[in-house]
Amino acid sequence: MIAPWVVETVVHPAGCPIHVTGAESARPGGGRGADDRLELRLLESLLSATGHDAADRESMTRPGRLAVTHDRMGRPALLVDGRAGPAVSFTRSGGLLRAALAHVHGLGIDLADDAEFAGDYPRHRAFGPAELALALAGVGGGMAAALLWAVKESVVKALGSGFHGVEPRAVAVGSIAPRHDGLVCGVRVDGRAGPIVAWARREPSGWFALTALDEVS
Ligand SMILES: CC(C)(COP(=O)(O)OP(=O)(O)OC[C@H]1O[C@@H](n2cnc3c(N)ncnc32)[C@H](O)[C@@H]1OP(=O)(O)O)[C@@H](O)C(=O)NCCC(=O)NCCS
Repeated sequence: MIAPWVVETVVHPAGCPIHVTGAESARPGGGRGADDRLELRLLESLLSATGHDAADRESMTRPGRLAVTHDRMGRPALLVDGRAGPAVSFTRSGGLLRAALAHVHGLGIDLADDAEFAGDYPRHRAFGPAELALALAGVGGGMAAALLWAVKESVVKALGSGFHGVEPRAVAVGSIAPRHDGLVCGVRVDGRAGPIVAWARREPSGWFALTALDEVS
């Protein structure tokens, strides 16, 4: 039986639906194995909630149908019955795990808490002056750094590189515009022709950002 976790569908500014779970906590002390099982259960609930029909949804609960693998950069991939499934992404924050799934080529989600960027956090290493000024003007001092970081991480996860060989400042937020339920950010990545569109929304203590790439990078 699948846990009745909250699954919501966010429409990325590029138009594709992204299915996202609420943030869930693995059993304390369960270690990496418990985290892996939670990842699979979250994906089961996402696939069940978005399946074509009841039989399709029910079949996702069959043990062993789903597996998550990682490439050498750490990017997760979902296998359904041994075949490549939809794109998936995960993020952890404060002991909670959240998962997302979409029929796109690249997917990245990230949660960043404002508190991580307080005090003597080396902002100049992570953020360029122009994007920092933009975020400060857009959302204010206490929230600007977490917004930029969540957006950057969602972008490098969607690209699949993570920050391996990619400097945080090579991923630069160039525009921030309000959209009714969040912010749409245009992001330039060194070496890429066009900007990438990310979407972010405010959560109780930080920002949740989401990037979907529909083309093969
Ligand atoms: C990938 C990365 C962006 C993850 O961000 P994070 O804030 O540490 O962690 P999050 O909880 O948000 O995300 C973790 C998940 O991201 C996913 N992930 C890891 N590498 C990934 C990649 N290359 N592409 C897409 N997703 C990736 C995995 O699902 C991972 O979960 P897992 O640990 O269960 O496998 C980041 O850790 C990274 O790139 N690290 C490698 C390079 C580095 O540390 N550089 C330091 C200089 S800035």
